Amino acid sequence: MTRWLLLLLPLLSACGWMWDQPKVRPFREAPLQVQVAPERVRFGENLNLEVRTGLKPEGGFADNPYAFTDGELVRGKVLYRSFCAICHGLSGEGDGRVIPLGMPKPRSFLDPGVKAMPEGYFYFAATNGFGRMLSYKSRIPERERWLIAHYIKRCLLEEACPLEVINAEVY
Ligand code: HEC
Repeated sequence: MTRWLLLLLPLLSACGWMWDQPKVRPFREAPLQVQVAPERVRFGENLNLEVRTGLKPEGGFADNPYAFTDGELVRGKVLYRSFCAICHGLSGEGDGRVIPLGMPKPRSFLDPGVKAMPEGYFYFAATNGFGRMLSYKSRIPERERWLIAHYIKRCLLEEACPLEVINAEVY
């Protein structure tokens, strides 16, 4: 019996792994070669790199590329309160209602280091997330993220908020 096994051994060792076999008919090359540009933009995204990323090409955060009307700023307030205030608080102090429930407390927007930042900083954080904060890129469209950034800057940090926006009843 052992002799038979010994005879079979060279045969078995030549088999290799069964799941690692050459294909009988290899795949042919794709007939259509698609060239993808390295700077590829997804459908619906802005072609302007600065607007899309919130970063200046020479470095640093960009200013807001859009000119929003006061009426739109009310919408900015709605969006901020819907998406950001739960953690960052109604006035941006990082005292949102989920903080006592165990969410890490974010730095206050009124902290001098944050307050001095251009609107691109807030857009960038909403787009990419920030540390333990998740990204809102797939949840809030690009222009609306810029609008939120504009609302934070004008109404929460600069005290340059139109009265109509301050008084707007928003839930
Ligand atoms: C679920 C809670 C939560 C929500 C909602 C949220 N954030 Fe945050 N955010 C955080 C936390 C926590 C941090 C700090 C993260 C860290 O330091 O790791 C943070 C950090 C930031 C920072 C950086 C602050 C700094 O320290 O410089 C900005 C800017 C910011 N968030 C903007 C926004 C905007 C704009 C929205 C709404 C679109 C938003 N966040 C929504 C939790 C949240």
